[in-house]
Amino acid sequence: MRILAICGSLQSQSGNLSLLRVAATSTPAGVRIVVFDGLRDLPHFNPDLEASGDAPPAAVLEWRRALGESDALLIATPEYGHSLPGSLKNAIDWVIGSGELGGKVVGITAAVPSLERGRRGLGALRDTLAAVRATVVGGEPIAKGPSREAEVMRLVSAIVASVPSAGPADT
Ligand SMILES: Cc1cc2nc3c(=O)[nH]c(=O)nc-3n(C[C@H](O)[C@H](O)[C@H](O)COP(=O)(O)O)c2cc1C
Repeated sequence: MRILAICGSLQSQSGNLSLLRVAATSTPAGVRIVVFDGLRDLPHFNPDLEASGDAPPAAVLEWRRALGESDALLIATPEYGHSLPGSLKNAIDWVIGSGELGGKVVGITAAVPSLERGRRGLGALRDTLAAVRATVVGGEPIAKGPSREAEVMRLVSAIVASVPSAGPADT
């Protein structure tokens, strides 16, 4: 199973990126987590670009291809202005019409200094993912500290359990 990890923060010293790297190095057997770093390259979504009949920009094609090749997503994102970061919203806007997130299992969390932080961003992300009919898993922030890795692994396990083909075979 391939899980695409998306960081809502573009800064190099991102706590959310650090959390995703923890996830990528402690995966269950048979699961591969690949961090996607292409959000920064996406142009602002513009319906005119969709309607022009020209091929979408290369960064958009790469984003859609990465989604299409993945069984599920893991998004870790900061809260900006009581919402999700614009770069992450922009990336989702690019696939509202093309549909790569439809029915996809998406685990969401926020790397936070304390557990009261990040919840409005996660709520906004959940609303946006509902608009593309993704199946959202998790949604709780994860704080720095000794239990961080265990909580990340719990979220990854919940994602794996929610992907239809990963369930136990019928007997
Ligand atoms: C422009 C901006 C807006 C922010 N808005 C909020 C906010 O509304 N609520 C909040 O809890 N934190 C807010 N923060 C703090 C970030 O969520 C916090 O720094 C986060 O840990 C950054 O994640 P990163 O380390 O992955 O980049 C804001 C930070 C920035 C730079």
